[in-house]
Amino acid sequence: MMYKNPRLIIDSSNPPEPGGIVWRSPSNIAIVKYWGKYGLQLPRNPSLSLTLSSSFTDTRLEYEFRDDTHGGSVDLDFFFHQEPNEAFKVKTEAFLNDLAAIFPFLKQLKLTVRTGNSFPHSAGIASSASGMSALTLCLCSLEDLLFGTLQDAAEFDRKASYLARLGSGSACRSIFPHAAVWGETAVIAGSSNEYAVPVGDQIHETFKNFHDDILIVNSSEKAVSSRAGHALMEGNPYAEPRYAQARQRLALLFDAMRAGDVETFGKIAEDEALTLHALMMCSNPSYLLIHPGTLAILEKVREYRAASGHPVYFTLDAGPNVHLLYPGEIIHEVRAFIEDELKEHCERGYIQEDWVGEGPEEV
Ligand code: DP6
Repeated sequence: MMYKNPRLIIDSSNPPEPGGIVWRSPSNIAIVKYWGKYGLQLPRNPSLSLTLSSSFTDTRLEYEFRDDTHGGSVDLDFFFHQEPNEAFKVKTEAFLNDLAAIFPFLKQLKLTVRTGNSFPHSAGIASSASGMSALTLCLCSLEDLLFGTLQDAAEFDRKASYLARLGSGSACRSIFPHAAVWGETAVIAGSSNEYAVPVGDQIHETFKNFHDDILIVNSSEKAVSSRAGHALMEGNPYAEPRYAQARQRLALLFDAMRAGDVETFGKIAEDEALTLHALMMCSNPSYLLIHPGTLAILEKVREYRAASGHPVYFTLDAGPNVHLLYPGEIIHEVRAFIEDELKEHCERGYIQEDWVGEGPEEV
């Protein structure tokens, strides 16, 4: 493991004072999608995402030195929106125990995680990207606080991204402002399968002012998890051509984003959304995550675009909810369109209004 470091051990004759670290980290929306993985959370193709703003997780990591070894495993309490949460505790404990070779000091501490999302828990908005990135940023801050080993900001971000990837692939892209690429691609120097790299400084201003309104069509838990969906790509007859297509699309998308070409960006975004769901329909077993309301929205978006000429596009995650992508300049027109035509397809009329943002911040 690239970050294995047996030297990160607290000197028990000089233990740290108890303390806490807080990070706020956003979700992100992939334009070229990560779908299919191998080995230890490595992507079959590169992906490119926009970093969001209003959908975020706040995570506070509290630590206190403890002298015994707690049976050789991490000692953790977990609170989600102020309530103890056993399911998250078990998941997070397993994740932290897996990081023992990277952060041996974790087993010397009593840890408490207090976390919460800016969006309703039951909204059907995936929180793994914001949640995992917030947690790994806290861990890197803790390392730096205890050992002073992550002073370089770029190195700090890279390590946080690497660790977030181990927790949930898409989370590694949330670390960076505006836009990020995860996965090796010839078009981005320094790109890697192990962590995401920032590309915000290479894209046109238009995309830094993009909006992503998330239309919640259905908030119930998905019938097939992302984890299971990635696994089904292994037997999918279209897998290899799909990975090649994603590599090609990423190169075209990156060119378009550098040039400020919204139309090409939008075409690729929609093609990727439909490809993702087509892959699910071609899996064995096949499955469907889109709902009738999803399709109704997609059709209305294309009709509205054709009729109005406004550059409004859709994308989808692995679920029924629609992300509406558009430049900030047309927000009033688009919000009226949502109100008049799309809201009726949303569960309880719920829409999470979001936009491209500056990335995580230590609070
Ligand atoms: C469709 O990152 O949730 O949103 O690595 O198993 O945690 P795990 O999967 P996850 O997959 C996200 C897939 C996607 C596309 C994307 O975000 O690139």
